[in-house]
Amino acid sequence: MAENRLEPSVVVIGALNVDAVVRAPRLPAPGETVVGPRVNWHGGGKGANAAVAAARAGARTELVGAVGADDQGRSTLRELAAEGVDVGGVASLDDSATGVALIVVDLHAENQIAVGLGANADLSPEYVGRTVEARLGTAGCVLVSTEIAPGAVIAAVDAAFRSGVPVILNPAPVIPAVARCLGSADVITPNAFEADVLLELLGGDASGSREKRWAELAERAQASVVVTLGAEGVAVAQPGEPLVVVPARPVRAIDTTGAGDTFNGVLAARVAAGDGMQDAVALAVAAASLSVMQPGARGGMPDFEAIVAFAGRG
Ligand code: ATP
Ligand code: RIB
Repeated sequence: MAENRLEPSVVVIGALNVDAVVRAPRLPAPGETVVGPRVNWHGGGKGANAAVAAARAGARTELVGAVGADDQGRSTLRELAAEGVDVGGVASLDDSATGVALIVVDLHAENQIAVGLGANADLSPEYVGRTVEARLGTAGCVLVSTEIAPGAVIAAVDAAFRSGVPVILNPAPVIPAVARCLGSADVITPNAFEADVLLELLGGDASGSREKRWAELAERAQASVVVTLGAEGVAVAQPGEPLVVVPARPVRAIDTTGAGDTFNGVLAARVAAGDGMQDAVALAVAAASLSVMQPGARGGMPDFEAIVAFAGRG
């Protein structure tokens, strides 16, 4: 299948967090306390995770975002630089704290997450607009996720759209600013829940089968819509084309945190490498399936050789 064309180049705009993870027998119900043996600290944040996935998949990767000017921010940047991610576009904000995600993972690898956005919410549109613009020269794809200030999402998508670089928008979570960006994204990557919220935002008909809803979302957004479906894999809806389902390979899932970020990062790397949508999605699904087999959002993220080997297995 794919060759890794020399130096595909990706710009990622999104959140950087530190993840405090407790493994517990089950996820807490409202008002309930669950306990696990310890807290594990991992690098996280949808932007930073996707950037690591893209870098491990062989893309030259630049990240635009923000951390606090604190110890967590400094160690976050060191960790990303060690992964080969260019963090020159990440601002260290004096008056903000680095984002923190509180995560519980249960015995079935499912998670529950609450994020204190910190510096991610303080990213200014002006900073993001000019920083993204300055990095688009050789970019083959821009990936934007929405766990940051709404104005920063819009500024990033606008800058990429103006330059003609393909834009992947991961609407996780769906914030109102997403509606403003839909006409400028080439690819949108919601999960099934987010896809329904987006269709509602666009005034679509929520009553049909899920396949009909995804097809309508692609038509209304005039974009490729890739719906991530957990262990089922993904569904790809493109305007005027039949829906295609790409199943995930069964694996022993330990922790699904960051599976969507792995999918998005590798998809961006492969779009930047010039793959067609079907090939890019097949490799991204393979990578995401591998990623759930280790703890932590980035623990199981594979390199390019591992992705190709896994995708090629019959
Ligand atoms: P996130 O939890 O990162 O926000 P998401 O809801 O956006 O994730 P998912 O649909 O859970 O994304 O997962 C993304 C991709 O990861 C799936 O499309 C699939 O390819 C892979 N994946 C997730 N869970 C599993 C699993 N249990 N087994 C195999 N592959 C999986
Ligand atoms: O998608 C997983 C990520 O979501 C975690 O790393 C956490 O930081 C939250 O942002």
